[in-house]
Amino acid sequence: MKVYDLRSDTVTHPTEEMRAAMARAEVGDDVMGEDPSVNQLEEMAAQMMGKEAAVLVASGTMGNLVSILAQTQRGDEVIAGTESHVFWNECGGASVMGGLQLRQVANDYRGMMDPDEVDRAIRRPGNIHFPRSSLLCLENTHNRCSGGILTPSDTKALCDVAHAHGMQVHLDGARIFNAAIALEVPATELTKDVDDLTFCLSKGLSAPAGSLVCGDQDFVDRARKWRKAVGGGMRQVGVLAAAGIVALQTCIERLADDHANARKLAEGLAEIPGLSVEPDNIRTNIVFVEVDPSLGPTPDFIRRMVEEGVRVSYPGERNFRMVTNRHITSQDVDETLGIVSRVARVAAAASH
Ligand SMILES: Cc1ncc(COP(=O)(O)O)c(C=O)c1O
Repeated sequence: MKVYDLRSDTVTHPTEEMRAAMARAEVGDDVMGEDPSVNQLEEMAAQMMGKEAAVLVASGTMGNLVSILAQTQRGDEVIAGTESHVFWNECGGASVMGGLQLRQVANDYRGMMDPDEVDRAIRRPGNIHFPRSSLLCLENTHNRCSGGILTPSDTKALCDVAHAHGMQVHLDGARIFNAAIALEVPATELTKDVDDLTFCLSKGLSAPAGSLVCGDQDFVDRARKWRKAVGGGMRQVGVLAAAGIVALQTCIERLADDHANARKLAEGLAEIPGLSVEPDNIRTNIVFVEVDPSLGPTPDFIRRMVEEGVRVSYPGERNFRMVTNRHITSQDVDETLGIVSRVARVAAAASH
Protein backbone atom coordinates (compact mmCIF):
# COMPACT_ATOMS: atom_id res chain seq x y z
CA MET A 1 0.00 0.00 0.00
CA LYS A 2 1.28 3.45 -0.87
CA VAL A 3 1.78 5.70 2.16
CA TYR A 4 1.29 9.47 2.00
CA ASP A 5 3.35 10.73 4.93
CA LEU A 6 1.99 14.17 5.74
CA ARG A 7 2.96 14.14 9.41
CA SER A 8 5.77 16.65 9.00
CA ASP A 9 8.45 18.04 6.71
CA THR A 10 10.95 16.44 9.13
CA VAL A 11 10.25 13.06 7.49
CA THR A 12 12.22 14.09 4.40
CA HIS A 13 15.30 12.03 3.54
CA PRO A 14 18.61 13.52 2.37
CA THR A 15 18.97 13.93 -1.40
CA GLU A 16 21.48 11.89 -3.42
CA GLU A 17 23.63 15.03 -3.70
CA MET A 18 23.64 15.37 0.10
CA ARG A 19 24.65 11.74 0.54
CA ALA A 20 27.52 12.19 -1.93
CA ALA A 21 28.67 15.37 -0.16
CA MET A 22 28.54 13.58 3.19
CA ALA A 23 30.71 10.76 1.89
CA ARG A 24 33.50 13.09 0.77
CA ALA A 25 33.16 15.77 3.51
CA GLU A 26 36.34 17.22 4.94
CA VAL A 27 36.14 16.93 8.72
CA GLY A 28 37.97 17.90 11.90
CA ASP A 29 37.19 18.29 15.62
CA ASP A 30 34.40 20.84 15.71
CA VAL A 31 34.59 21.42 19.48
CA MET A 32 38.11 22.67 18.78
CA GLY A 33 36.75 24.77 15.90
CA GLU A 34 38.65 22.64 13.37
CA ASP A 35 35.95 21.16 11.17
CA PRO A 36 36.23 22.91 7.80
CA SER A 37 32.79 21.79 6.62
CA VAL A 38 31.12 23.06 9.79
CA ASN A 39 33.03 26.33 9.58
CA GLN A 40 31.90 26.77 5.98
CA LEU A 41 28.27 26.04 6.88
CA GLU A 42 28.36 28.46 9.82
CA GLU A 43 29.80 31.23 7.63
CA MET A 44 27.17 30.58 4.97
CA ALA A 45 24.35 30.64 7.52
CA ALA A 46 25.53 33.88 9.11
CA GLN A 47 25.80 35.51 5.72
CA MET A 48 22.37 34.30 4.56
CA MET A 49 20.78 35.61 7.75
CA GLY A 50 22.66 38.92 7.73
CA LYS A 51 24.28 38.24 11.11
CA GLU A 52 27.90 38.33 12.27
CA ALA A 53 28.26 34.68 13.22
CA ALA A 54 26.52 31.32 13.53
CA VAL A 55 26.91 28.04 15.39
CA LEU A 56 25.67 24.60 14.29
CA VAL A 57 23.52 22.73 16.82
CA ALA A 58 21.87 19.33 16.76
CA SER A 59 18.23 20.39 16.41
CA GLY A 60 15.73 23.23 16.42
CA THR A 61 14.95 22.52 20.05
CA MET A 62 18.60 22.78 21.00
CA GLY A 63 18.88 25.97 18.92
CA ASN A 64 16.00 27.63 20.76
CA LEU A 65 17.32 26.44 24.12
CA VAL A 66 20.91 27.67 23.75
CA SER A 67 19.69 30.96 22.25
CA ILE A 68 17.32 31.58 25.14
CA LEU A 69 19.96 30.60 27.70
CA ALA A 70 22.46 32.94 26.03
CA GLN A 71 20.03 35.88 26.17
CA THR A 72 18.76 35.59 29.76
CA GLN A 73 19.63 35.20 33.44
CA ARG A 74 17.96 32.78 35.87
CA GLY A 75 14.75 34.27 37.25
CA ASP A 76 14.01 36.34 34.15
CA GLU A 77 10.68 36.31 32.36
CA VAL A 78 10.54 35.37 28.66
CA ILE A 79 7.54 36.44 26.60
CA ALA A 80 6.37 33.93 24.00
CA GLY A 81 3.15 33.30 22.06
CA THR A 82 0.37 31.12 23.43
CA GLU A 83 0.87 28.75 20.46
CA SER A 84 4.65 28.94 20.29
CA HIS A 85 6.84 25.89 19.80
CA VAL A 86 9.08 26.94 22.71
CA PHE A 87 6.06 26.88 25.01
CA TRP A 88 4.28 23.77 23.70
CA ASN A 89 6.86 21.41 22.34
CA GLU A 90 10.26 21.76 23.97
CA CYS A 91 9.72 19.93 27.26
CA GLY A 92 9.81 23.20 29.19
CA GLY A 93 13.58 23.24 28.62
CA ALA A 94 13.92 27.00 29.09
CA SER A 95 12.32 26.72 32.52
CA VAL A 96 14.11 23.52 33.49
CA MET A 97 17.60 24.55 32.38
CA GLY A 98 17.36 28.33 32.44
CA GLY A 99 15.29 28.86 35.59
CA LEU A 100 13.08 31.07 33.41
CA GLN A 101 9.40 31.90 33.62
CA LEU A 102 7.47 31.92 30.35
CA ARG A 103 4.81 34.61 30.00
CA GLN A 104 2.30 34.09 27.20
CA VAL A 105 0.75 36.58 24.82
CA ALA A 106 -1.98 35.43 22.41
CA ASN A 107 -1.01 34.39 18.89
CA ASP A 108 -3.60 35.16 16.22
CA TYR A 109 -4.52 32.76 13.39
CA ARG A 110 -1.16 33.32 11.63
CA GLY A 111 1.08 33.51 14.69
CA MET A 112 1.18 37.29 15.06
CA MET A 113 1.02 38.90 18.51
CA ASP A 114 -0.56 42.28 19.16
CA PRO A 115 2.34 44.71 19.82
CA ASP A 116 0.20 46.57 22.43
CA GLU A 117 -0.45 43.32 24.27
CA VAL A 118 3.26 42.53 24.21
CA ASP A 119 3.92 46.01 25.57
CA ARG A 120 1.44 45.44 28.41
CA ALA A 121 3.04 42.09 29.26
CA ILE A 122 6.49 43.61 29.73
CA ARG A 123 7.38 44.14 33.41
CA ARG A 124 8.31 47.68 34.30
CA PRO A 125 11.42 47.99 36.43
CA GLY A 126 11.23 49.28 39.99
CA ASN A 127 8.81 46.76 41.50
CA ILE A 128 10.76 44.44 43.78
CA HIS A 129 8.19 41.66 43.31
CA PHE A 130 8.54 41.37 39.56
CA PRO A 131 10.87 39.20 37.50
CA ARG A 132 12.84 41.02 34.80
CA SER A 133 11.41 40.81 31.25
CA SER A 134 14.52 40.14 29.19
CA LEU A 135 13.54 38.28 26.03
CA LEU A 136 10.71 38.19 23.48
CA CYS A 137 10.40 35.02 21.36
CA LEU A 138 8.89 35.14 17.87
CA GLU A 139 8.19 32.24 15.50
CA ASN A 140 8.22 32.48 11.67
CA THR A 141 6.68 30.54 10.00
CA HIS A 142 4.35 29.61 12.82
CA ASN A 143 3.89 25.88 13.22
CA ARG A 144 0.70 25.68 15.31
CA CYS A 145 -0.82 28.62 13.41
CA SER A 146 -0.97 26.72 10.10
CA GLY A 147 2.46 27.82 8.90
CA GLY A 148 1.42 31.48 9.18
CA ILE A 149 3.89 34.19 8.25
CA LEU A 150 5.16 37.32 9.96
CA THR A 151 6.08 39.99 7.42
CA PRO A 152 9.12 42.24 7.82
CA SER A 153 6.86 45.00 9.17
CA ASP A 154 5.17 42.62 11.69
CA THR A 155 8.61 41.58 12.89
CA LYS A 156 9.78 45.17 13.19
CA ALA A 157 6.65 46.24 15.10
CA LEU A 158 7.23 43.52 17.71
CA CYS A 159 10.97 44.12 17.91
CA ASP A 160 10.45 47.86 18.38
CA VAL A 161 8.29 47.22 21.45
CA ALA A 162 10.79 44.82 23.00
CA HIS A 163 13.81 46.99 22.21
CA ALA A 164 12.11 50.08 23.67
CA HIS A 165 12.17 48.24 27.00
CA GLY A 166 15.76 47.05 26.68
CA MET A 167 14.74 43.47 25.85
CA GLN A 168 16.33 41.16 23.27
CA VAL A 169 14.34 39.36 20.56
CA HIS A 170 14.86 35.70 19.62
CA LEU A 171 13.30 34.35 16.43
CA ASP A 172 12.43 30.67 16.16
CA GLY A 173 12.91 30.60 12.41
CA ALA A 174 12.81 26.81 12.10
CA ARG A 175 11.07 27.39 8.73
CA ILE A 176 12.34 30.90 7.96
CA PHE A 177 13.02 30.01 4.32
CA ASN A 178 9.38 28.96 3.88
CA ALA A 179 8.41 32.47 5.00
CA ALA A 180 11.01 34.11 2.74
CA ILE A 181 9.94 32.09 -0.31
CA ALA A 182 6.23 32.70 0.31
CA LEU A 183 6.79 36.45 0.69
CA GLU A 184 9.38 36.54 -2.10
CA VAL A 185 11.82 38.47 0.07
CA PRO A 186 15.39 37.62 1.10
CA ALA A 187 15.51 35.93 4.51
CA THR A 188 17.53 38.89 5.79
CA GLU A 189 14.37 41.05 5.53
CA LEU A 190 12.81 38.79 8.15
CA THR A 191 15.84 38.63 10.42
CA LYS A 192 17.29 42.14 10.35
CA ASP A 193 15.33 43.42 13.35
CA VAL A 194 15.75 40.41 15.64
CA ASP A 195 18.82 39.99 17.83
CA ASP A 196 19.23 36.30 17.17
CA LEU A 197 17.55 33.44 15.40
CA THR A 198 17.54 29.69 14.89
CA PHE A 199 16.72 27.97 11.62
CA CYS A 200 16.52 24.29 10.74
CA LEU A 201 18.18 22.26 7.98
CA SER A 202 16.19 19.12 8.67
CA LYS A 203 12.65 20.20 7.89
CA GLY A 204 11.60 21.27 4.38
CA LEU A 205 15.27 21.59 3.42
CA SER A 206 15.64 17.79 3.74
CA ALA A 207 19.04 17.57 5.47
CA PRO A 208 19.30 14.70 7.96
CA ALA A 209 20.00 16.88 11.02
CA GLY A 210 21.14 20.25 12.26
CA SER A 211 20.04 23.80 12.98
CA LEU A 212 21.96 27.07 12.96
CA VAL A 213 21.93 29.67 15.71
CA CYS A 214 22.80 33.11 14.32
CA GLY A 215 23.50 36.51 15.86
CA ASP A 216 26.34 38.84 16.77
CA GLN A 217 29.71 37.33 17.67
CA ASP A 218 29.33 37.86 21.39
CA PHE A 219 25.92 36.15 21.43
CA VAL A 220 27.17 33.24 19.31
CA ASP A 221 30.13 32.76 21.66
CA ARG A 222 27.71 32.48 24.60
CA ALA A 223 25.42 30.12 22.64
CA ARG A 224 28.43 27.98 21.70
CA LYS A 225 29.37 27.70 25.39
CA TRP A 226 25.78 26.68 26.26
CA ARG A 227 25.86 24.16 23.40
CA LYS A 228 28.81 22.50 25.15
CA ALA A 229 27.02 22.66 28.51
CA VAL A 230 23.94 20.83 27.19
CA GLY A 231 26.09 18.15 25.57
CA GLY A 232 25.79 19.41 22.02
CA GLY A 233 29.50 19.70 21.24
CA MET A 234 29.96 17.19 18.43
CA ARG A 235 33.28 16.24 16.87
CA GLN A 236 33.65 15.25 13.16
CA VAL A 237 30.23 16.66 12.46
CA GLY A 238 31.30 17.95 9.05
CA VAL A 239 29.59 14.84 7.65
CA LEU A 240 26.29 16.46 8.66
CA ALA A 241 27.37 19.99 7.80
CA ALA A 242 28.18 18.86 4.24
CA ALA A 243 24.54 17.83 3.78
CA GLY A 244 23.45 21.15 5.29
CA ILE A 245 25.51 23.09 2.76
CA VAL A 246 23.85 21.20 -0.10
CA ALA A 247 20.45 21.86 1.52
CA LEU A 248 21.10 25.61 1.50
CA GLN A 249 22.37 25.47 -2.08
CA THR A 250 19.66 23.31 -3.62
CA CYS A 251 16.52 23.00 -1.48
CA ILE A 252 15.32 26.53 -0.72
CA GLU A 253 13.67 27.52 -4.02
CA ARG A 254 11.76 24.25 -4.26
CA LEU A 255 9.85 25.05 -1.04
CA ALA A 256 7.45 26.91 -3.37
CA ASP A 257 6.29 23.47 -4.61
CA ASP A 258 5.43 22.43 -1.04
CA HIS A 259 3.45 25.65 -0.63
CA ALA A 260 1.52 25.11 -3.88
CA ASN A 261 0.76 21.53 -2.85
CA ALA A 262 -0.41 22.63 0.61
CA ARG A 263 -2.71 25.21 -0.95
CA LYS A 264 -4.12 22.62 -3.35
CA LEU A 265 -4.56 20.18 -0.46
CA ALA A 266 -6.37 22.84 1.61
CA GLU A 267 -8.67 23.75 -1.28
CA GLY A 268 -9.56 20.09 -1.79
CA LEU A 269 -10.13 19.44 1.91
CA ALA A 270 -12.38 22.50 2.17
CA GLU A 271 -14.66 20.83 -0.40
CA ILE A 272 -15.13 17.70 1.72
CA PRO A 273 -18.32 17.84 3.83
CA GLY A 274 -17.46 17.68 7.53
CA LEU A 275 -13.91 19.05 7.18
CA SER A 276 -13.03 22.73 7.59
CA VAL A 277 -9.95 24.61 6.54
CA GLU A 278 -9.52 28.17 5.29
CA PRO A 279 -7.40 27.80 2.10
CA ASP A 280 -6.65 31.53 1.95
CA ASN A 281 -4.82 31.23 5.28
CA ILE A 282 -2.50 28.51 3.96
CA ARG A 283 0.58 30.45 2.88
CA THR A 284 3.29 27.82 3.36
CA ASN A 285 3.37 24.03 3.90
CA ILE A 286 1.28 23.41 7.04
CA VAL A 287 -2.46 22.69 6.99
CA PHE A 288 -4.57 22.27 10.13
CA VAL A 289 -7.92 20.64 9.47
CA GLU A 290 -11.02 20.76 11.70
CA VAL A 291 -13.27 17.73 11.89
CA ASP A 292 -17.01 18.18 12.42
CA PRO A 293 -18.68 15.96 15.07
CA SER A 294 -20.92 14.63 12.27
CA LEU A 295 -17.88 12.55 11.14
CA GLY A 296 -17.70 10.81 14.53
CA PRO A 297 -14.79 10.90 17.00
CA THR A 298 -11.64 12.47 15.46
CA PRO A 299 -9.28 9.68 16.68
CA ASP A 300 -11.42 7.15 14.77
CA PHE A 301 -11.35 9.36 11.68
CA ILE A 302 -7.55 9.63 11.88
CA ARG A 303 -7.20 5.87 12.40
CA ARG A 304 -9.25 5.21 9.27
CA MET A 305 -7.09 7.60 7.23
CA VAL A 306 -3.94 5.85 8.49
CA GLU A 307 -5.41 2.46 7.54
CA GLU A 308 -5.82 3.84 4.03
CA GLY A 309 -2.23 5.14 3.93
CA VAL A 310 -2.65 8.83 4.86
CA ARG A 311 -0.52 9.76 7.86
CA VAL A 312 -1.18 13.00 9.75
CA SER A 313 -0.01 14.53 13.04
CA TYR A 314 -1.02 16.72 15.98
CA PRO A 315 -4.21 14.71 16.60
CA GLY A 316 -6.52 16.94 18.63
CA GLU A 317 -10.02 16.63 19.99
CA ARG A 318 -11.38 18.02 16.72
CA ASN A 319 -8.41 18.60 14.42
CA PHE A 320 -5.20 17.28 12.91
CA ARG A 321 -2.21 18.60 10.95
CA MET A 322 -0.94 17.80 7.44
CA VAL A 323 2.44 19.05 6.20
CA THR A 324 3.56 18.91 2.57
CA ASN A 325 7.19 18.10 1.88
CA ARG A 326 9.66 17.07 -0.81
CA HIS A 327 8.31 13.52 -0.97
CA ILE A 328 4.71 14.62 -1.66
CA THR A 329 3.93 15.39 -5.29
CA SER A 330 0.93 17.18 -6.76
CA GLN A 331 -0.42 13.78 -7.82
CA ASP A 332 0.02 12.52 -4.24
CA VAL A 333 -2.17 15.43 -3.13
CA ASP A 334 -4.89 14.32 -5.57
CA GLU A 335 -4.67 10.74 -4.32
CA THR A 336 -4.67 11.88 -0.67
CA LEU A 337 -7.78 13.95 -1.30
CA GLY A 338 -9.47 10.93 -2.86
CA ILE A 339 -8.72 8.82 0.21
CA VAL A 340 -9.74 11.47 2.76
CA SER A 341 -12.95 12.16 0.86
CA ARG A 342 -13.83 8.45 0.85
CA VAL A 343 -13.03 8.11 4.57
CA ALA A 344 -15.22 11.16 5.31
CA ARG A 345 -18.15 9.74 3.30
CA VAL A 346 -17.97 6.44 5.17
CA ALA A 347 -17.61 8.23 8.54
CA ALA A 348 -20.62 10.47 7.84
CA ALA A 349 -22.75 7.47 6.82
CA ALA A 350 -21.66 5.50 9.92
CA SER A 351 -22.48 8.27 12.37
CA HIS A 352 -26.04 8.77 11.04
C1 LIG B 1 8.62 26.12 14.87
C2 LIG B 1 9.51 25.02 15.35
N1 LIG B 1 10.56 25.31 16.14
C3 LIG B 1 11.39 24.37 16.58
C4 LIG B 1 11.22 23.05 16.24
C5 LIG B 1 12.15 22.02 16.82
O1 LIG B 1 12.94 21.41 15.89
P1 LIG B 1 13.61 19.97 16.18
O2 LIG B 1 12.53 18.96 15.93
O3 LIG B 1 14.73 19.91 15.21
O4 LIG B 1 14.07 19.97 17.59
C6 LIG B 1 10.15 22.69 15.43
C7 LIG B 1 9.96 21.27 15.06
O5 LIG B 1 9.04 20.89 14.38
C8 LIG B 1 9.26 23.69 14.98
O6 LIG B 1 8.18 23.40 14.22
